[in-house]
Amino acid sequence: MDGITVRSLFKKKREGKKIVMVSTYDYISAKLCEQVGIDCILVGDSLGMVFQGQDTTLPVSLEEMIYHAKAVRRGAKNTFVIVDMPFMSYQVSIEEAIRNCGRVIKETGANAVKIEGGEEVAELVYRLVNIGIPVVGHIGFTPQSVHALGGYRVVGRAVEEAERVKSDFKALEEAGAFMVVLESIPKGLTKELTEGSRAITIGIGAGPYCDGQVLVFHDLVGLVEDIKPRFVKRYLEGAELFRNALNRFKSEVESGLFPSEEESYG
Ligand code: KIV
Repeated sequence: MDGITVRSLFKKKREGKKIVMVSTYDYISAKLCEQVGIDCILVGDSLGMVFQGQDTTLPVSLEEMIYHAKAVRRGAKNTFVIVDMPFMSYQVSIEEAIRNCGRVIKETGANAVKIEGGEEVAELVYRLVNIGIPVVGHIGFTPQSVHALGGYRVVGRAVEEAERVKSDFKALEEAGAFMVVLESIPKGLTKELTEGSRAITIGIGAGPYCDGQVLVFHDLVGLVEDIKPRFVKRYLEGAELFRNALNRFKSEVESGLFPSEEESYG
């Protein structure tokens, strides 16, 4: 099998090499990620907010995830692609969840699925792993539970919450999740979870002590301007660059400078 695999990701963890993941949703950005050697692309259900302009990830459907995952796979044939299972695609019953996860793997060519939750999804994780579907867990702040968690916030500062994060991590590891995303948790807790862990830890707002890091493509290239959580680092002021290009196009059309002879057919 060409490209990045669960085995090669574990090798990186063993060798202490950081794993780099980007969450993105389309052919072009996936291709750019593959060109620079990003290890994993997550087709995240954050697409509900970033791509569709919704307030939360909750409205995203399974069909939409499959549509975006197919586009990503076309752009990144050798990158390890993980698809987020959207809200209510895995909560109703184990049977329905397995069928939906199976659809994602069969129809998109993705390598793994990601499921939010800890102990409550451990049995599902175990069943999926046993039928050969690699599973990524997601604990700490879990966006699909935004209402229950009382908004976007750091999870695990209080002792009780930290204990819950630890027991969720253990449950996912025991169920066979090969990787766990840790979102918005204190860095000390991340360190404790990562040291001696079997599963690969990937952080977002979880500090430096993870096996790898993930950011959303549109955040890291500066296309999302309305919200900027503390954990986001912008490597480009993309929105400003895009606006400049659009402004130049607008003024050249209005002034008759575009199209010139060069852009016209004889
Ligand atoms: O949906 C997403 O993009 C995610 C990452 C931010 C971890 O879940």
